[in-house]
Amino acid sequence: MSELPPGTQEEEEEVDANMPMRVQRLEEFGISSTDIKKLAAAGYHTIEALAFTPKKALLLVKGISDAKADKILAEATKLVPMQFTTATEFYQRRNEVIMIQTGSKELDKLLGGGIETGSITEIFGEFRTGKTQLCHMLAVMCQLPTSMGGGEGKCLYIDTEGTFRPERLLSVAERFGLVGEEVLDNVAIARAHHTDHQKELLLQAAAMMAETRYSLLIVDSATALYRTDYSGRGELAARQMHLAQFLRLLQRMADEFGVAVVLTNQVVAQVDGMAMFNPDPKKPIGGNIMAHSSTTRLSLKKGRGENRICKIYDSPNLPESEATFSIGEDGINDPKE
Ligand SMILES: Nc1ncnc2c1ncn2[C@@H]1O[C@H](COP(=O)(O)OP(=O)(O)OP(=O)(O)O)[C@@H](O)[C@H]1O
Ligand SMILES: [Mg+2]
Repeated sequence: MSELPPGTQEEEEEVDANMPMRVQRLEEFGISSTDIKKLAAAGYHTIEALAFTPKKALLLVKGISDAKADKILAEATKLVPMQFTTATEFYQRRNEVIMIQTGSKELDKLLGGGIETGSITEIFGEFRTGKTQLCHMLAVMCQLPTSMGGGEGKCLYIDTEGTFRPERLLSVAERFGLVGEEVLDNVAIARAHHTDHQKELLLQAAAMMAETRYSLLIVDSATALYRTDYSGRGELAARQMHLAQFLRLLQRMADEFGVAVVLTNQVVAQVDGMAMFNPDPKKPIGGNIMAHSSTTRLSLKKGRGENRICKIYDSPNLPESEATFSIGEDGINDPKE
């Protein structure tokens, strides 16, 4: 049998039910390929992304008229289920939500299994509390099969502080008997240099996620660049608006690709007069915008030695409780004595 040169073989249709529908499929429903290219260039790589977008945002795409936007939305919403379902069906789907384990049984128990896919988890705390270490750990855990507590997908890592260290991934890989090289190949890493760049990287990320199965998107830290790019007092409103757009995009990606989104955040001393009545006067950056965008908010504190304490600060389904874990050479573990 003669072999076709690479690239000429007809691509088989993806039948993975977990993957979103590529925007190119809209051609079958009468949307022109030129319009599809325009949508992809604006960051809409999947039909899900379109279905989750209000019309006024689609009108901002160059070359998409009012009539075209209506047609595109009509087709997209026919393909993506968006109607009411029963709570029973919803409950069944909730049970199928993949949780990415953290490496610490105690912490997983606190989190109801691990870091939830399809939603945003914010991890905040002072320096050295283990935010970055937890991110590195999850970057490996997300690659494991679900039977081993993973998400069976790649990791996309946006580093804004220059603290990404591949050698930390290799140590964790060794712990789980994984091939280090493969683990690193499965992590797409980018350093973000300013807040516009940070947002642009998400558009690239969306294109990559439409091609390959990713299970985790990390932004470490989500807010650091905002503090430096918008440091003046008068810039607060502009900062919050930009941050809101960034977080909205992250939420869309969580919905669109079913990835777990993990953000880290710093804390600042509370400056209002209530500080003296507050036993813990440090609060996370980003105000209401951040508070409302993260589904689950975790607060990290230092414990004794390498131990750290994680507290559920806000969650739609978990009680406000705490768990202790430790940071070691091979990543996150249960607490050490
Ligand atoms: N190879 C390692 N083995 C054991 N512990 C380590 C290792 N690498 C880093 N740590 C520990 O991890 C902690 C640093 O945590 P991490 O960098 O996650 O903090 P962070 O919360 O991200 O802080 P920041 O706000 O400064 O970014 C330090 O206490 C350090 O000792
Ligand atoms: Mg850090």
